[in-house]
Amino acid sequence: MNSETIKETVDFLKHKGFHNPEIGIVLGTGLGQLVSHIDIALEVDYADIPNFPVSTVEFHSGKLIFGTLENKKVVVMQGRFHLYEGYSLQEVTFPIRILKALGIQKLLVSNAAGAINLNFKKGDIMLIEDHINLQGGSPLAFKNVSEFGERFTDMSEPYDLNMRHSLIEIAKNNNITLHKGVYTAVVGPQLESKAEYRYLKIIGADAVGMSTVPEVIVANHLSLPVIAVSVLTDECNPDDLKPVNIAEIIAIAGQAETKMITLFKELIKL
Ligand code: HPA
Repeated sequence: MNSETIKETVDFLKHKGFHNPEIGIVLGTGLGQLVSHIDIALEVDYADIPNFPVSTVEFHSGKLIFGTLENKKVVVMQGRFHLYEGYSLQEVTFPIRILKALGIQKLLVSNAAGAINLNFKKGDIMLIEDHINLQGGSPLAFKNVSEFGERFTDMSEPYDLNMRHSLIEIAKNNNITLHKGVYTAVVGPQLESKAEYRYLKIIGADAVGMSTVPEVIVANHLSLPVIAVSVLTDECNPDDLKPVNIAEIIAIAGQAETKMITLFKELIKL
């Protein structure tokens, strides 16, 4: 990656009409319905955006959308790139650099995750307060990283405190249970073994998933305030572990999605 590739992609999108978005949103697995609330001005398939990786997971539609939500100009990633699809961490996070270069001032991220904390139930929502990176690499580990920001990026508060406080208030006012916790990112795509779920609990994880942490690291690299929420789709109880059912995970994400949409819409209004 270099500044030329970023410029080429940004020029392409600006030329298409992606003008001055204020807020960027990343929609995770099974969480595409927010799009139906947007007054859409433009949408472009990832496959048609120069330098974008191409999404291969069939339930991700893989589109960049520009439009208006709650009177704010938003740019939405419907579907994201995962390490488990074979992309590098630089590729996975390239779109975040593009959104920032387009002008967003805030980033809202969502994902589907497994509940390690067994006080949390499937269908619940968790506000990510902190994370553990178990993906075995960093999206900032490349030669010319200092052209783009501070190499030794601070991670003392990766998730924006103001937006977190606002989201907690919003959840209260809308009677939405919003847990708070630590999200751990693994590579996947295989789910965890019982021993791995036990290990994740011991190291302090409340939820586990296969995304988000690289995007959040890059947002911090770009000094872009970011917030992230997990929709908890399964309960990862090592003492009573059932075989994974991906269709059920996606269905649960869909059912819990209305809560996430309320939270994001109210946050965007502020
Ligand atoms: N593990 C990893 N990723 C996940 C899970 C899980 O249990 N559930 C949803 N995404």
